[in-house]
Amino acid sequence: MKGIVLAGGTGSRLWPITKVVSKQLLPVYDKPMIYYPVSTLMLAGVREILIITTPHDQESFIELLGDGSQFGIELSYAVQPKPEGLAQAFIIGEKFLDGKSCMMILGDNIFHGAGLGHDLINSIPKSGAHIFTYEVSNPSDYGILKLDSKGLPESITEKPKSFISNLAVTGLYAFDSKVSEIAKGVEPSDRGEYEITSVINSYLISNTLTYTALSRGTAWLDTGNPQSLNDAADYIRIIEERTGLKIGCLEEIAFRNSWINANQLSVNAANLGKNSYSSYLLSLLS
Ligand code: TTP
Repeated sequence: MKGIVLAGGTGSRLWPITKVVSKQLLPVYDKPMIYYPVSTLMLAGVREILIITTPHDQESFIELLGDGSQFGIELSYAVQPKPEGLAQAFIIGEKFLDGKSCMMILGDNIFHGAGLGHDLINSIPKSGAHIFTYEVSNPSDYGILKLDSKGLPESITEKPKSFISNLAVTGLYAFDSKVSEIAKGVEPSDRGEYEITSVINSYLISNTLTYTALSRGTAWLDTGNPQSLNDAADYIRIIEERTGLKIGCLEEIAFRNSWINANQLSVNAANLGKNSYSSYLLSLLS
């Protein structure tokens, strides 16, 4: 399975912070935001990842993450000329996907929880589309999944005005090889965007949409506005300080998966200079 991180967008809810820099390059406590979605894909065992950015920010992402070999993965890059909707990821990424199935994650979505990688690997069926839902207290702010009486997906409604369910569709999805073709058939919505909901609905209509409700022990954090960005940083800091373990540390995941060896890990630490992040990497060696 291949992976896509969609890390373009306008970030207008964070202006002026994101006037000249991508939201996904901003820090979430001790590392850039993009580390977290990349770590989620790595935990799910995905090693070939396409990072889609704005044309303006692409160079910075390449400078930050390179070809991914230092993390034992293969990174490639593509641009989305304008933020015209999430479904464009599958058209931009068609060549990269090369008929393979994929996991797609939004660049500003942070997932954390015990056994998350294992759960992701085990929940994705071989064909169809798969979404991950999360119980929220404010369903009118999200795309919401309604289930039928048998517990099967019935509909997805964007920001429902009245209550239909509290299962928010998170920014993590898995699709089979048909996704690029389906995305090409999507018409822009009333707000002028190529919506991922249209792609998901197409699977829903053909009864090939499945879902996993993320457990209560999993955290799903959004970082789209100043408050949620700050909350996410606090969350990461508190858990990291309490446990002494880092969240979203790409080098650590690679090392624990045996995708890089001890020598590469110490080279990575040396390349970062002297700071608490590189000390952490060195501590993994002992
Ligand atoms: P949004 O939060 O919907 O949009 P945004 O990041 O542009 O922010 P704002 O609403 O404040 O202007 O995007 C969710 C994620 O998807 C985010 O990581 C950016 C990404 N994205 C794209 O890469 N391309 C797009 O066309 C859209 C709509 C979003």
